[in-house]
Amino acid sequence: MRINKYIASAGVCSRRKADELIINGQVKINGRVLKEPGYDVMDGDEVSVAGRIVEPKKTHTYVLLNKPVGVITSVKDDKGRMTVIDLLRENPDIADEASRLFPVGRLDYDTSGVLLLTDDGELTYRLTHPKHEFPKTYQALVRGVVSREKELRLVRGVDIGGFVTSKAKVKTLKVKGNSSLVEIAIHEGKNRQVRKMFEAVGNPVVELKRVSFGEIRIGRLKEGAFRKLTKKELDYLMRV
Ligand code: URA
Repeated sequence: MRINKYIASAGVCSRRKADELIINGQVKINGRVLKEPGYDVMDGDEVSVAGRIVEPKKTHTYVLLNKPVGVITSVKDDKGRMTVIDLLRENPDIADEASRLFPVGRLDYDTSGVLLLTDDGELTYRLTHPKHEFPKTYQALVRGVVSREKELRLVRGVDIGGFVTSKAKVKTLKVKGNSSLVEIAIHEGKNRQVRKMFEAVGNPVVELKRVSFGEIRIGRLKEGAFRKLTKKELDYLMRV
């Protein structure tokens, strides 16, 4: 198994982060600093990361959190804001495992909704790699009405500042007063992408919530609450 995959399977970090650790000389094979990023780990090799021996884990934890607004999608924060890991640590049902988990992708501080957390770096790599085009669905409360013409622009792709978005699915669910609830499914993950897309067509986002991550739906999970993935959901993710 390639070294970056081996480290990710051990739950240390994602494959990409593992590559950085190798470049920084933090990875040793049988006591020697590894110089070859493409190294294939052989039976009997002892792999250590930052001085700690690591081995691929046989079981992993997969948690679905309904992230509330005002919590950051990160393991730690320099500014002392509450992170999704701090939030899980407050819950006795997951507190012990929380420190080992990391978020799969990100949601803005001011966005709520489905966030997967795991210690499976290998799955994280697959789900966040652009080539897999993993779909995510959001409900956006926006200012004004998104006309048919604007919907089509969002569907076909809009310029969000040096980047033209790929095909999206867009559907207005409700128009109330001077705001609309619009569902949008995208498979990219540019910074504040959904907000920038609606901004580009002149309907700024007032509230944003992610309602599904691939086929995994938020359902009735309350904001701030979490649950473990079901076997069916996990089987689905493994097939992605
Ligand atoms: N798009 C956004 O604008 N924000 C998110 O948190 C996710 C997608």
